[in-house]
Amino acid sequence: MAEANDKKIEISRRDAVKTAAAGAAVAAGVITGAPWIQKVKAANSQLQIGIIGTGGRGYYHITHLNNIDGARLVAACDIYQPNLDKAVNGSKDKPKGYKDYREVLSNKDVDAVIIATPLYMHFPVTRDALLAGKHVFCEKSLVHNAEEVHALRKMVNERPKQVMQVGLQRRYSRFYQTAKQMVEKGLIGDVTNVYAQWHRNLINVPSATWTMKKNDPRGEDANWRLLRKYSGGLVAELGSHQMDIADWMFGSHFEFVSGVGGIDYFKDGRDVYDSVQLIFRYPKGQRLMASYISTNQHCPLFGGQRAQFGECIMGTQGTIHITVGTDDEPALGMWYREPAKKVPDANTSKAAVASASLASTGKGSRPLPILLQQG
Ligand SMILES: NC(=O)c1ccc[n+]([C@@H]2O[C@H](COP(=O)([O-])OP(=O)(O)OC[C@H]3O[C@@H](n4cnc5c(N)ncnc54)[C@H](O)[C@@H]3O)[C@@H](O)[C@H]2O)c1
Repeated sequence: MAEANDKKIEISRRDAVKTAAAGAAVAAGVITGAPWIQKVKAANSQLQIGIIGTGGRGYYHITHLNNIDGARLVAACDIYQPNLDKAVNGSKDKPKGYKDYREVLSNKDVDAVIIATPLYMHFPVTRDALLAGKHVFCEKSLVHNAEEVHALRKMVNERPKQVMQVGLQRRYSRFYQTAKQMVEKGLIGDVTNVYAQWHRNLINVPSATWTMKKNDPRGEDANWRLLRKYSGGLVAELGSHQMDIADWMFGSHFEFVSGVGGIDYFKDGRDVYDSVQLIFRYPKGQRLMASYISTNQHCPLFGGQRAQFGECIMGTQGTIHITVGTDDEPALGMWYREPAKKVPDANTSKAAVASASLASTGKGSRPLPILLQQG
């Protein structure tokens, strides 16, 4: 259902090697403009938006909407008054505030809604928004259970004029689009494996969203991520981004998954796992290995430059380490090549290296930065 950004970045092997050899640093990651807004905007030069759920993520969207000319926030909705007040006051458009999302949907001025409620509310709000004729951007994960995704797929197929987009933002990163082009052009050969991790140390660095808040007056509403009736836990909240990348790079959905999870350290009343390791099998024999832990944030990718999360895309001719930017760090992409193919030397029967130029990269141990054009 996600609308892929069709703005492509052309990259050839020669260009990539040339720019890498120039030794320039990896450019800061750029999340391209929201294709959802661009597409809908064609019919109405200023898209009128309502936002439902104005907690951490919803407010983050508002800060970005404040910088987008083609959209105006006309309605904001939250059941928790302090979050609603913050949204109304933090938007440059000073939207009308609502407590009941159905009133936003019946507002004829609203063309489109952003849904950033807890996961268990995604389906009812998305369903009602589509029924009300609105375009929808819903945060990931789109649904809480399988029945809900089948119902939404049917609804979206029946409404070709309405745009429905899911907030899996790696697809809109130019770094990830470049990596996808490298895969399509065969620069890393046949992609056989992806390793993904999202590791945090919640002991030393407690998280506002993943640490049980015992004294919050909102009770379960404040801890929804930690309770299965509202949340899919680490796999839905973090893993969904990385499964999306593996699906995209492999070109298919996985067909089988096995794994181990447990409440192994944080016995604080949560009933979602605090540690999960999964192996997904894809139809052509590819694998995604994914790990989510809460007790250590070390990341072996990127030559140790980064912690917590990233993906490693492995092919028969090379590997890409890639991650999105954060508020403090840029997006990052690195390309490692496999050793050059050895071919038998007919005269001496000794193996000879097929390509001298590839040997100069240290047989795959030294990465080339993935670069983007500026501007
Ligand atoms: N794409 C990403 O990288 C990313 C990052 C963070 C969060 N998210 C997603 O955004 C969503 C929200 O996460 P969050 O961190 O902002 O959670 P949050 O708890 O900070 O905010 C959720 C807000 O929804 C409100 N709410 C609950 N029920 C409501 C209802 N019926 N009507 C209106 N408002 C309601 C709550 O009061 C709260 O203010 C989740 O689905 C999460 O997975 C996505």
